[in-house]
Amino acid sequence: MQKILSSIVTLFICSLPLSAQEVVRDTVNFSKKSNDYVTYDKRITISEGHEMHVFTSRFSYWLSPLSGTGNLWIHCGGERSILGGEKGNTIPDWSGYSGEVHLKVYKNTDPTAGAFGLVLGHGGKTFNPEEIETSIEKGKVNSCFARSKVILHKGVTLSCESGTRGYRFGQLDTENGSSICGYYKANSGPKPYFIVGCNDSDAVMAGVIAPPSNTLKHNVGLIKEGKGTYRLTCNENYITGGLRILQGKVFVNNDVVAAQKSKLPGGVGIMNDQNSTGVYVFDKATLGGFGNVACNTDVYGRIEPGDDGIGTLTFADYVNGRKVNLMLRPTTVINCEIADAESYDRLSVSGDISLYRFGQNFVESDASPILRIRLKGAVLNVGDEFTLIRSISKKSEDGSDWQFDVRFPDRYTWETFEDTSEGNYTLKVRVISLADNPNYFDDEDDDESEEEDNNPEDFSDDDDANPLRFYADQMGKGIGVALPASKMNLKADFDKETKLVRTEFNMLVAENEMKFDALQPSRGKFSWDSADALVSLGVRRKLAVRGHTLVWHTQLPEWVTTDGKKNTNGFSRVEMLKIMKNHITTVVSHFKGKVREWDVVNECLDDVQSQVRTNPDSYVLKKTVWSEAIGNDYIDSAFVWAHQADPEALLFLNDYDVEYHGKAKTQAFYNLVKSMLDRNIPIHGVGLQCHFDAGKVDTAALSSNMKRFAQLGLVCAVTELDLGIKDYSEQQLNRQAKDYKAITQVMLDNPNCTSVMIWGLADHYSWRSASMPLIYYSSFKPKPAYFGIKKALRNTFETSLPSTPQVFRKESPSRIFNLQGVQVGSPFQGVYIQNGKKYLR
Ligand code: XIL
Repeated sequence: MQKILSSIVTLFICSLPLSAQEVVRDTVNFSKKSNDYVTYDKRITISEGHEMHVFTSRFSYWLSPLSGTGNLWIHCGGERSILGGEKGNTIPDWSGYSGEVHLKVYKNTDPTAGAFGLVLGHGGKTFNPEEIETSIEKGKVNSCFARSKVILHKGVTLSCESGTRGYRFGQLDTENGSSICGYYKANSGPKPYFIVGCNDSDAVMAGVIAPPSNTLKHNVGLIKEGKGTYRLTCNENYITGGLRILQGKVFVNNDVVAAQKSKLPGGVGIMNDQNSTGVYVFDKATLGGFGNVACNTDVYGRIEPGDDGIGTLTFADYVNGRKVNLMLRPTTVINCEIADAESYDRLSVSGDISLYRFGQNFVESDASPILRIRLKGAVLNVGDEFTLIRSISKKSEDGSDWQFDVRFPDRYTWETFEDTSEGNYTLKVRVISLADNPNYFDDEDDDESEEEDNNPEDFSDDDDANPLRFYADQMGKGIGVALPASKMNLKADFDKETKLVRTEFNMLVAENEMKFDALQPSRGKFSWDSADALVSLGVRRKLAVRGHTLVWHTQLPEWVTTDGKKNTNGFSRVEMLKIMKNHITTVVSHFKGKVREWDVVNECLDDVQSQVRTNPDSYVLKKTVWSEAIGNDYIDSAFVWAHQADPEALLFLNDYDVEYHGKAKTQAFYNLVKSMLDRNIPIHGVGLQCHFDAGKVDTAALSSNMKRFAQLGLVCAVTELDLGIKDYSEQQLNRQAKDYKAITQVMLDNPNCTSVMIWGLADHYSWRSASMPLIYYSSFKPKPAYFGIKKALRNTFETSLPSTPQVFRKESPSRIFNLQGVQVGSPFQGVYIQNGKKYLR
């Protein structure tokens, strides 16, 4: 019946006479009254000028691939109308869709159905709010709406399935009376984050953002990206997962008077844990408005009280009356406008204002937060006074004293004074003369401009027959590769792959064959074959071997744990220490003198390390079977036992997302390593995995990270480099080559960086084979990336002067020297001498 009805509706609508510019209305209806789940997965295309109306069911899995640019109206039939499959574990492919999306209530089902709206699936991917960009890049975010403007109409609820998830919207406008509630069931744990604004436009979020019940046991977070301005106007927001402003502006514009009167949370409601930071305003971002923020706020960027007009931005919790603190940084800028003697922007903080003396990149600075005053055409008199900032106190995290760096406008002469007499802190400014400001200088910072590097570089084959190791050997650097040792014929030196490996590289690591499950599959029974074959190739052909890895929470045999995270077999601390010690001692002793360095502990840090922003020496370990059974000191013990078994071996702590200086997890990594050194634990180096995507590599942050570890006297190794690309187009391949070259250069430029290991030989072998991240094609033909690495090695080799140059091949086809008389591998840019003749290239 339903079907007939809907087709009648469609027919009726379609038969209306339409003029050329009118939209064509199409319909898909899979709404049912029954409680059985309906699955609808037929492809939908909405062409320009068309409008698709989809009627969903209270219990439905909607999995249609969607494409086109026309508008989509989703008439949401009830609270389990899921965009995705069962439990949200699959999501449809909407990557080809970029139209406008309207979500409306469709009450054809029982009105007790609860919320009407959409439940968003997550595709089984876990999101990390400290690594937003990486999460997006690695496809760990639901991006169905990332190319769309989405409007939540009155009455609609947007919710999602459980877990720590990211949902990305090009633009998200919400009407008064709509809601974003996160996980639709009110239990603890889930942390959904709504990432809005990547299409750079402005939006208004008038609907409520809060968990589905006031128990507030779970989180719903909001992340603002893109250049536009988002205005939050609801008075009942509980943004329990916090607000992170990465770029652009967020204006909190709720009605403070009403919030105060009715004890409402306001524009950015309170957190579950009042001590934690609720709002982060990052370097490029602005927080402003005339409403109230009810949770502790950390500002690296700007504060702009008032919207475009004049107003007071308040930090207050009207629900519990708790203090709300404002944390400032050396990079903070507060912009206050003055319209006239009575009307001007103010900042009102119910708690303390405190200065943390390090910026977003964890770099210390003694700069002070700037308070910039602008006149909006104000005509002022001598003696006019403005109380711009009010709080309980002004302090700093290290107890030292500080002053705002007040920047006055060009007109009038001003003075600043602070008052603490009434048990509060106020900062006032006063006009002391009508003469123009003698100290004025225009210091407004320019908006960031994005540079695109369009320098095409040639990475084609370049007649240089020298292998990579020819240069690396002579410069004392390692260039290595991870091998699936069990699938290769490493005992045969002249096997095609083995020959390629030993010719090109001077380091080796087993991709899987030295992991716990491979070496000790059952308790006390060790299995060495593949690992031995790899190590013996290394010894035979002078390739240094890295051992990967002794203690990790994955690739563990079931007799240790069945899930890696929990102590599923219930081992006592003592028993687990025995297991760990026996494994480490047996393995390290077995390879003593043959394995140069060990990843003793792998990936031990938690992914989310936001706490380092306010607790700068801290780190949080991942909960794993090791930490659960032994305690956090398992790391120290592992290093000590490894050292006892082979005192000559270099011992490393290896991890991912710790490559770039300035990231929270990198800081935590540094803190952990430093604490180990402070405890005299034998650690010699850190491994930076470097699983990246080409085109997004930040070599400056990588290099600066290495320098910090150098100051601790530690070696840094790039341990698992691979650089994903989208396809084999020339542009992608060149981008990949450029980044391989740049990372190699980082190694060459940093004396404490000893090696770059590439995580696999040829693309088909890669654990990320879909992103073709390696330096050989599956045919073993070298990719531009290979030549990128070689270029970096050769250029540096030719411009440096090795003290005792060695010739790699017995008979060099031609003998080339630079003008210093040092023999080099091949012709280079500039003047060189080849077989006695002078050349200029
Ligand atoms: C990967 C291997 O490449 C895969 O073959 C295997 O299935 C899983 O492990 N970080 C590490 C490596 O430290 O050990 C991982 O290697 C990749 C991520």
